[in-house]
Amino acid sequence: MLNIHKLWLFSSLCVIVIVVLYFQSEITRLEEAYRKLEYKLVQSHSDSRQFTSKDALKDDDDLVVIYNRVPKTGSTSFVGVAYDLCKKNHFKVLHINITANMHVMSLSNQYKFAQNVTKWQEMKPALYHGHMAFLNFERLGTSSKPIFINLIRKPLDRLVSYYYFLRHGDNFRPHLVRKKHGDKMTFDECVEKGQPDCDPNNMWLQVPFFCGHAAECWKPGSPWALQQAKHNLVNHYLVVGVTEEMLDFISVLEASLPRLFKGATEHYLNSNKSHLRQTSSKIDPSQRTIDKIQQSTIWKMENDLYEFALEHFKFVKKKILLRETNSVPQVFFYEKIRPK
Ligand SMILES: *[C@@H]1O[C@H](CO)[C@@H](O)[C@H](O)[C@H]1NC(C)=O
Ligand SMILES: *[C@@H]1O[C@H](CO)[C@@H](O)[C@H](O)[C@H]1NC(C)=O
Ligand SMILES: *[C@@H]1O[C@H](CO)[C@@H](O)[C@H](O)[C@H]1NC(C)=O
Repeated sequence: MLNIHKLWLFSSLCVIVIVVLYFQSEITRLEEAYRKLEYKLVQSHSDSRQFTSKDALKDDDDLVVIYNRVPKTGSTSFVGVAYDLCKKNHFKVLHINITANMHVMSLSNQYKFAQNVTKWQEMKPALYHGHMAFLNFERLGTSSKPIFINLIRKPLDRLVSYYYFLRHGDNFRPHLVRKKHGDKMTFDECVEKGQPDCDPNNMWLQVPFFCGHAAECWKPGSPWALQQAKHNLVNHYLVVGVTEEMLDFISVLEASLPRLFKGATEHYLNSNKSHLRQTSSKIDPSQRTIDKIQQSTIWKMENDLYEFALEHFKFVKKKILLRETNSVPQVFFYEKIRPK
């Protein structure tokens, strides 16, 4: 009798244990299914939130773009578009402020900067902008590399713009007193008198910006620097636009990097800030001045880089913006995928 009672107790205990175990596994199974659903929901949600187009890369969220802007090339207008879009398109924009606007970073800062921007997950995807020379990440041992973009301008236009900018400032920060404030000398007079501010050597800026952090890059007139600048422009930049065709630059970026630049073209067309920064009281140089500057080696080399960049940009643009054959946009896809 006692034994039967014990047996009954034992078996009912067993049943209870089995029931508990069954429900526990059932709960785990349901929890897992729920988590999967939740994950899918987040994914589909973030897909629409991040404006990824069909063709956009899956790991676009790791994207780091560096715009090493050259002074007086219309960079403020362009960066303004990025600042206007960053909230809507969910990315970060950061200005790289280097002591005294130096264009070359010390070796230790190059390394620190490279490690920092590639590893800083909380800031990704991001657009970094600053007045610094091209930095080759291959030298710096980072596991991932950022995408470089830039704008280039006709060298004499850039120099004249810079010359008046130092004297009169611009409409962006009109109350800031510039370095040469009060100096009334025109660019023509400056060239006539052979003053240092309009020395053609001052035009040696776009070549070294594209050339990079090597000493030779900063020697005005170095043929090696010009070659290196061209090499970097086609091999290390995703796209380099020209100031004179800012809208097309923005459209090309929107087509190739929609993760950041979705809606940029329309925004640029419709916002009345698009020509935001204009140097005040700029006087166009006379033909005489132009002829004189164009005889200098530095102008010729800087212009060589500009023309090279322009031709390359037009080529890139044609493939993207103009639908060459029968107005059909270019696509690509995969087929004959094996093994099945
Ligand atoms: C960079 O930082 C310095 C020091 O804080 C500041 O004075 C300067 O205005 C900054 N540069 C720019 C372009 O904002
Ligand atoms: C990058 O630098 C910033 C500013 O110094 C710092 O706050 C951040 O933690 C750094 N990120 C990484 C991943 O090192
Ligand atoms: C253009 O700017 C003016 C003043 O700065 C502002 O009142 C107006 O709403 C702006 N228009 C558009 C379309 O943003």
